[in-house]
Amino acid sequence: MPRINPHYQKLRAGYLFPEIGKRVRNFATAHPEARIIRLGIGDVVLPLPAPIVEAMKAGADEMGSQDTFRGYGPEQGYEFLLEAIAGAYHAQGANVAAEEIFVSDGSKCDTANIQEIFALDNVVALTDPVYPVYVDTNVMAGRTGEADDCGRYANLVYLPTTAENGFDPALPVGHVDIIYLCSPNNPTGAVMARASLARWVAYARKEGAVILFDAAYEAFIREPGLVHSIFEIPGSRDVAIEFRSFSKTAGFTGTRCAFTVIPRELCGHDASGAPVPLRGLWNRRHTTKFNGVSYPVQRAAVAVFSPEGSRAVQANIDYTMENARIIREGLAAAGYRVYGGENAPYIWLRVPAGVTSWDFFDRLLAEAHVVGTPGSGFGNCGEGYFRLSAFGLRENIEEAIERIRQKMHL
Ligand code: MLT
Repeated sequence: MPRINPHYQKLRAGYLFPEIGKRVRNFATAHPEARIIRLGIGDVVLPLPAPIVEAMKAGADEMGSQDTFRGYGPEQGYEFLLEAIAGAYHAQGANVAAEEIFVSDGSKCDTANIQEIFALDNVVALTDPVYPVYVDTNVMAGRTGEADDCGRYANLVYLPTTAENGFDPALPVGHVDIIYLCSPNNPTGAVMARASLARWVAYARKEGAVILFDAAYEAFIREPGLVHSIFEIPGSRDVAIEFRSFSKTAGFTGTRCAFTVIPRELCGHDASGAPVPLRGLWNRRHTTKFNGVSYPVQRAAVAVFSPEGSRAVQANIDYTMENARIIREGLAAAGYRVYGGENAPYIWLRVPAGVTSWDFFDRLLAEAHVVGTPGSGFGNCGEGYFRLSAFGLRENIEEAIERIRQKMHL
């Protein structure tokens, strides 16, 4: 028998969303009459817009004809998509070149895999609560010790991000090497202010740290003037990597397409202290472990940037953000303290005093037949909070809020 990777045994529980799925399945089996509304995992429900489907079909047709058939594509993505992404960055005031972009099958995978190019003894900082993928993949790699009773792993630096500090985490006390930031934030729905991001960039420059900036939800920002990309911040190009995705933006959770940006000038250093460009390391990893996103999917993705595609995608985002407004205002009217949901598709609410996040999950499921995500699933500081996703059909969102108002009124 082979010896297993012992670090997997440090993981506290199953991955959050399968765990929720299991509990919901058990409830549904025991209560077949219940019409369950799922606002747990942030999964899109609207069909792909017509211009995107047309582009995907055209791509599939090309694959079915001898003169336009394609085998392996470039691992980094087709030029037509890279150029469109770079153009979109420029329109947002960020300087990104096509050769700095790596197309992939998801930001979950990219944010999970990026830690591979860094040494195991780097000090990693992340917010608490946090997207669990950042934590778990560092545990799996062996970059942490064991978890304590609160589920916090030794050797990670946790940055509390709660209502008390306005969901704006303080800089670490002392030195860290790698910092995960996510804005608009999953799970809290908060957006980092420009000044706050500039503070992080200044810290990273001073400490020689790298910021792993997850911008998967940037398309949901409504307020003008808020930062969409860390590369809008002067001085960020040699301290940051950015992750973006078509998943939530354009309804690609089942279609799979995302991208990561690593600026040319961003370096780590080797054992002798000599600088090593991270873009080259990631390129080495990407070309070794990945064979690219399928051609029809990249054709569909580039259609997101066409005038008709972007109009249709924007209409779906508007729909989701109207859902967010309904959830936010409905919960507030029912007496809940709510955060987020203004520039992000997630609403983060305080559970009633004396109730844990998982208790609230069970009560909400049992009494309102509504599924959400317990805040403690995102970390110790998420205890006492609960996340609702605004991705859903309007009638389900309205009904979920009505049920909460009737059955879970504070
Ligand atoms: C979430 O609900 O947090 C997301 O859907 C998870 C993901 O994007 O992997």
